[in-house]
Amino acid sequence: MTKLKTIPKMAKNFQQKAGVNFGDNSPEFLLAVANEYGEIAQFNFGPFKFVLISNPEMVREVLITQAKNFPKGNRDVRLLSRVLGKGLVTTNGDEHKRQRRLSQPAFHHRRIASYADTISDYADVVGSDLVPGQTINMAEEMEALTMYIVSKTLFDVDMEEMVERSAEIGHSIDVLQTLADKNFDKLFNLPMWIPTPDNIKNRRARKVLDSTISAIMQERREAGENGVAKDTGDLLSMLMLATDEDGSFMSDVEIRDQLLTLFIAGHETTSNALLWTWYLLSQHPEVEEKLHAELDQVLNGRLPTMEDLKSLPYTEMVLKESMRVLPPVWSLNARVALEDTTVMGYPIPKGVQVFVSPYVLHHTPQNFPDPERFDPERFSPENIDQIHKYAWIPFGAGGRVCIGNSFAMMEAQLILATLAQRYRFELDPSESVRLQARITMTNKGGLKMKVVEREQPIQTIRLDNSTLEMVS
Ligand code: HEM
Repeated sequence: MTKLKTIPKMAKNFQQKAGVNFGDNSPEFLLAVANEYGEIAQFNFGPFKFVLISNPEMVREVLITQAKNFPKGNRDVRLLSRVLGKGLVTTNGDEHKRQRRLSQPAFHHRRIASYADTISDYADVVGSDLVPGQTINMAEEMEALTMYIVSKTLFDVDMEEMVERSAEIGHSIDVLQTLADKNFDKLFNLPMWIPTPDNIKNRRARKVLDSTISAIMQERREAGENGVAKDTGDLLSMLMLATDEDGSFMSDVEIRDQLLTLFIAGHETTSNALLWTWYLLSQHPEVEEKLHAELDQVLNGRLPTMEDLKSLPYTEMVLKESMRVLPPVWSLNARVALEDTTVMGYPIPKGVQVFVSPYVLHHTPQNFPDPERFDPERFSPENIDQIHKYAWIPFGAGGRVCIGNSFAMMEAQLILATLAQRYRFELDPSESVRLQARITMTNKGGLKMKVVEREQPIQTIRLDNSTLEMVS
């Protein structure tokens, strides 16, 4: 039998030595641990024992080959369930498998492709409202845009309706996200049945969202026949019409939790990916110039379509590199060993929580040489093979890989292509990066940027059934 290796344990004074604390700046803290202790390291947070891995082969073991022995940990599932109920993100085992099977068709390539024009149109409308010279909070702009898009594609609720409903819905989502983040920051949380002010807020916000979603589902059933929902082309229709192998439909509660999950998982992530991309472009004029050249050459002022995406490889490379440097999901949910096991010869006892952090993997020099350098060429067709399959994991990996990854890539590419044709965004001189790493990673307080019109006059036009419509 091969001898087991020893996992280095983080020294007690390491937080002080490294000058970063877990909790305050978790991504930087985890990276400091990996840099100091290597591919696997053990540390404690209160009573919890964690192991951090940063070798992609170990990631393969935890997320793929031994995935059954490493489900999501109870703490993460419990805290997220307070907000999301029992959807894809918060279930494990057979329940998760069933939900994944039923939800997968909603993310089929053809279905997703049908949303492309909506996305470019929405990006164009938001772009038309921007005023050159104006300073905007980029985080708010991207959040609003991705929320409009997710509302339209999930529920077929359009922008005007969303704006009308958004005060209520937007506020409830904000409340839930803030509470979820707050819960993760605390070592212990009181159970939901105790009427603490936060638990009451949580329940109220869920109630607003639950009743909104239930009302939309009811409308669908009434519009359909024999109680079967009408297919209106959105993701909700797909979920309401999905049947399992035994012919059973998802229950109303399952659909409701799934929708809320998709709504929350589907917009803050994409909006942060875009936020960081605009930031990185503003700091790298040579990359921005190359991006503009590609967009001008391929689109020549027209709104991008799904078809165009394959002719915009540099746009895709920019996004991939942006999600490497500043991954919106900086850490996957902790995985917990069900049984004693080993990972690449290191013993992992039952109950230990394993951290897989895209931020750490993406910033480890063994995985990406000169990791702090922003260089989209890493993802060029000539270079991409040098990247280990499990070293770049902004969407996770294995059976729990992000179900919306193709949707998100398409959406981000279309938004980037639409807006970057018209504008550049300059970082406000008062701004700096203050990573705020909660469930997703954003910039504390948002990011002020100045809208600058591109030099050549750009017209956004769509060729639609041989009609040439001048949008602006
Ligand atoms: C740039 C945008 C996005 C990023 C970076 C991202 C990232 C991730 C990551 C890392 C995971 C895995 C978490 C884990 O294993 O612990 C995940 C899961 C998930 N994502 Fe995304 N996501 C994005 C967009 C979306 C969109 C647009 C949707 C839906 C419309 C979505 C829905 C989900 C769902 C439902 C899961 C759970 C899947 C499962 O466990 O089976 N995400 N996402």
